[in-house]
Amino acid sequence: MVYTVTLNPALDCYVSPEEFAPGRDLRYSGCRFLPGGKGVNVSLLLRSLGVKTKALGLAGGFTGRELAALLEERGLPTGFVFLEDGLTRVNIKITPPGQPETALNGSGPEIPPEALERLEERLGELEAGDFLVLAGSLPASLPAGTYARLAGAAPPGVEAVIDASGPALLASAAARPFLMKPNREELAEAFGEPASTLEEAAALARKLQGLGARNVAVTLGGEGALLLDEAGGARFRPAVPGTPCSAVGAGDSFVAGFLYGWSLDGGLDQALDWAVSAGAATAFREGVASGEEVRAVYRRAFGRSPTGMECPRGAVLEE
Ligand SMILES: Nc1ncnc2c1ncn2[C@@H]1O[C@H](COP(=O)(O)OP(=O)(O)OP(=O)(O)O)[C@@H](O)[C@H]1O
Ligand SMILES: [Mg+2]
Repeated sequence: MVYTVTLNPALDCYVSPEEFAPGRDLRYSGCRFLPGGKGVNVSLLLRSLGVKTKALGLAGGFTGRELAALLEERGLPTGFVFLEDGLTRVNIKITPPGQPETALNGSGPEIPPEALERLEERLGELEAGDFLVLAGSLPASLPAGTYARLAGAAPPGVEAVIDASGPALLASAAARPFLMKPNREELAEAFGEPASTLEEAAALARKLQGLGARNVAVTLGGEGALLLDEAGGARFRPAVPGTPCSAVGAGDSFVAGFLYGWSLDGGLDQALDWAVSAGAATAFREGVASGEEVRAVYRRAFGRSPTGMECPRGAVLEE
């Protein structure tokens, strides 16, 4: 079972006025609410790939209840700890036809210490062999070591997968996670050193291993990904060729693809093949790809039955 934790999830609200200009009264008809947050994205794609998964995290108020309801409607079991005060943030995405998107992203509620303790209790109920994915930005009130603390709350034998940035990236390595997945920019920023070449990125990934991370995948956007494993091996996969559309969520898809590939028992090579396929499938469309789209990209890149590539517009995980 793969549990994901999203500490600062969102309800994304998409509105499409005819045009958008600041300082004006604008009208729109209809708005679409979609679940948002990195751990949530990982769980949605895993579920679509047929992997047993549950979305955990912190949620609050009517927006938090709506987020959980949207996930449950999509067949994803949830186990959010509900805050007594505060609302799950609403991120407003203004998408006028033919114009670039404007996003108003909320910062999220204040997190009281008791909420984190309740989440730790839930993580204590996981079982050896489970995976625990900790992904996305930390709420502003929580310290950099929060992911390491949460990973430590799970019983021995639970494998942590951490996608964090900034000081939290470096602090999380102490939990000896099975996998850490920074992108190139996050890695460079966290260490204050360049990661422009593959050699530089690999050197920083090794530094992250020096801090405790076991396997480190550095995603390189349209260039592919690098994986340094705990046995000292290094692998590079170029990106799957295709027409990019929107890479938002490609990193979350990479994590889901990696865990799916790993679950097939083909080792790190197969995990990496599925990871870059999932990242690409999401980069080639708007929103996070479905399991079916990921499989089509995998078959085209690594299997025998080729399929055409296109860039469909559509909601997250419509199946
Ligand atoms: N344009 C692209 N073409 C093909 N594959 C891509 C493209 N962009 C991303 N990918 C795939 O997706 C993976 C993850 O992408 P990226 O490095 O952009 O993650 P990220 O920056 O963490 O994204 P996010 O945090 O927004 O989810 C890459 O390693 C690559 O395999
Ligand atoms: Mg990312």
